[in-house]
Formats: sequence, C-alpha cells, structure tokens
Amino acid sequence: MFRRVHGGVSWIDSKRFLDFSVNVNPFGPPKEIVEKLHYCINNEVYRFYPDPNYQLLRKTLSEAYDINEKNLVPTAGASEALYLVIKCLISRGFRHVLLLSPTYGEPEIKALAEELGAKVSFILMSETQDKFYVDLDSLIDNIKNVERAFLIVSNPNNPTGIYIDQNDIETVAELLDGRGFLIVDEAYSELSGKRGSLDLLNYYDNLIAIRTLTKLFATPGLRTGFLASGSKRLIKCLEALRPTWNIDSISSCVFSGKPLEDSKWFRRFVLDSSEGVKALREDLENGLKKLGLRVFKSETNFVLSKIMDLDPEEFYRKLYLKNIIVRNCNSFRGLSSRYFRVGVKDGISNKVLLEAIKEVIRG
Ligand SMILES: Cc1ncc(COP(=O)(O)O)c(C=O)c1O
Repeated sequence: MFRRVHGGVSWIDSKRFLDFSVNVNPFGPPKEIVEKLHYCINNEVYRFYPDPNYQLLRKTLSEAYDINEKNLVPTAGASEALYLVIKCLISRGFRHVLLLSPTYGEPEIKALAEELGAKVSFILMSETQDKFYVDLDSLIDNIKNVERAFLIVSNPNNPTGIYIDQNDIETVAELLDGRGFLIVDEAYSELSGKRGSLDLLNYYDNLIAIRTLTKLFATPGLRTGFLASGSKRLIKCLEALRPTWNIDSISSCVFSGKPLEDSKWFRRFVLDSSEGVKALREDLENGLKKLGLRVFKSETNFVLSKIMDLDPEEFYRKLYLKNIIVRNCNSFRGLSSRYFRVGVKDGISNKVLLEAIKEVIRG
C-alpha cells in the first residue's frame, strides 16, 4: 500500500498528545461555526444527501471570498482540489508536472501524476541560514522552455512558511501563458493575512487558485474548500471530474449560509486570526532561536526549524515521551529529519513546547 505521511494525530490520540504537527488556526474553531455544526447535527442533516450542485455553498463561498460563483468549484478540502486539477490538466494533455519544492503532498502528487502517465520534475527553493527563498531568475530558467506543463506552488509554502509575492506569481503565469498553467495552493492565505491571487484570476486564464476552510476554521474533519479559475473551459473540466456529493452534507451545511454569509463577521475573524497568529509566531520563533535552534523566517501559522547538534531521532523520541508531537520533515524533498515543523498554537501550549525542547536539548 502507498503509505501517506502527514501531520496531525487522530482525535483519540489528541487526548494524550500536544500536537504541533498540524497547522490549523490556534483561534479556531470559532463558536459560531461550532454552533452551526450543532444545528446541522440536531436537524439530522446527515440523513440526507447534500445538494449535488452545492448552490447555497457556492453562493456563500463566492460572497465570502468576493469571487464570481461561476469561477469556483467546491471541493472536499484543498487536497481534493489538487487531485481534481491534476487529473483535469493531465487529461487535457499537459503531461509535465513541476513542483516548487519542498512542498505539501509531494509523494501523493508524484504517485497520481505518474499513474496518469505524466512526468514529474522538482524545482528546489534556495536556502540560507535563516530563510528559504525562491530565486525568480532560476525559476524562470527552469520553466521557460517547458511545453504543455503545469507548475504547482503552495503559497504561503508548506513547510518553509515563505510567501511568494503576487508580482512574481504574475510573472510566472505570464511566462507560462499559452504553454502551461500555474496552480497556487493558498491553504494558508487567510492565516498569513495575504489576499493571495484571487484578484488575478480574471487576468490570467492559466492561473488556478486553491483555498480551504479546514485551516482557517481549524476544522480539518469538515472537508471543505474550493478551486477558483477565470477559465470557463477549465471550470467545465473540473466540474465534470468532480464526484457527485464530494462534500458530505454536514460539512456543506456548516459552511452554507450563516455564519459564513455574514461578510463582516468573516472578515473580522480572518483579520483577528492573522494578527493573532503573527504575534504568537514571532514569540515562538524567538523562543526557538534562544534555544540555539536554526529558525527559518515564516509568514504564516507554522515554523520550520533545524536541529543542529542533536541526534534527530533522539529529539523526536524524547519529545514523544513528553507527549509532544512535531512534524519530522524527512518526507519533504530537499529536507531531512534534521528539519522539523511546528504549527503555531496558543501561547501556553507554545511555552510548553519550548520548555520541553529545552529539556531535551539539555539532556
Ligand atoms: C499547502 C497545503 N495544501 C493543502 C493541504 C490540505 O488541506 P485540506 O485539509 O484542505 O485538504 C494542506 C494540509 O496540510 C497544506 O499544507
């Protein structure tokens, strides 16, 4: 079996572990979403099929994100969005997949693309002492001669936390115009306080954005997200490939209508979350640095760090014995088990993590 490696412990293990391997909003889920969930359960929504066209969900998402309803396809989280767009583009003859690495879901994307007969190439980011970055010239060199290809970029990037400027996104979309597509996985857009590329979709037919509600609302069990594109042909292809009832009735009930349709409430929650995340992240980054770890500058709700002198396996084992889980980054291209990622949590939990790491380092 193809074994998938991801952060996030199960709800059963969550009773025992403090889990820093998952990257969700430390200020979520908001009470309004939890109340809506109870409402959906009390009304026994699970006894019914969801609307196969997700009309109310589409309307709510389109208003919340200020994009045209016709330009979005609802999906079961960002993961399904990635699968759908990969299948669509490969089936339309774009048989070369480029990944800006390290990035989310590399093994799965590679397995899927190769299974469908496409070639997969990895373009590695550059690394300095304290940050990862994308050298635009070198990226351009890598893509300027590709034909019928598409590039997948997670922005902000998981696991490095870097954010690629929208000007650079436009440059790449323009460069690929007529030959390929640019897919931007914006799973952490809201938590980093960035608008992302939704405003660019009407200008670039070959640009596709992916969003999810699982990170923002800290509800990874309610699998809801969407794909957005300004291209009618692409939307038609994605709709054709989207399975009927791809989002279950409870999740679609929670995110249709109230409270998400209240744009004032939504914007306030996004703003408060991104500001709160920034403050917590900076404290965490400083705390990790003080412990002598290498810390890579992040723009979002998780931090990539590097163990220098310790044996990484011992590091993970000792933290585990203290009931703390962090994400070992050995499954990401270009990284190794010396790199670990921690999701920003509330201030008290972050302090517990820093104290535990201090004890592990001191032996
Ligand atoms: C960059 C990125 N994209 C997509 C996902 C999957 O998100 P979802 O829960 O919406 O499927 C993740 C989850 O870790 C992620 O980090």
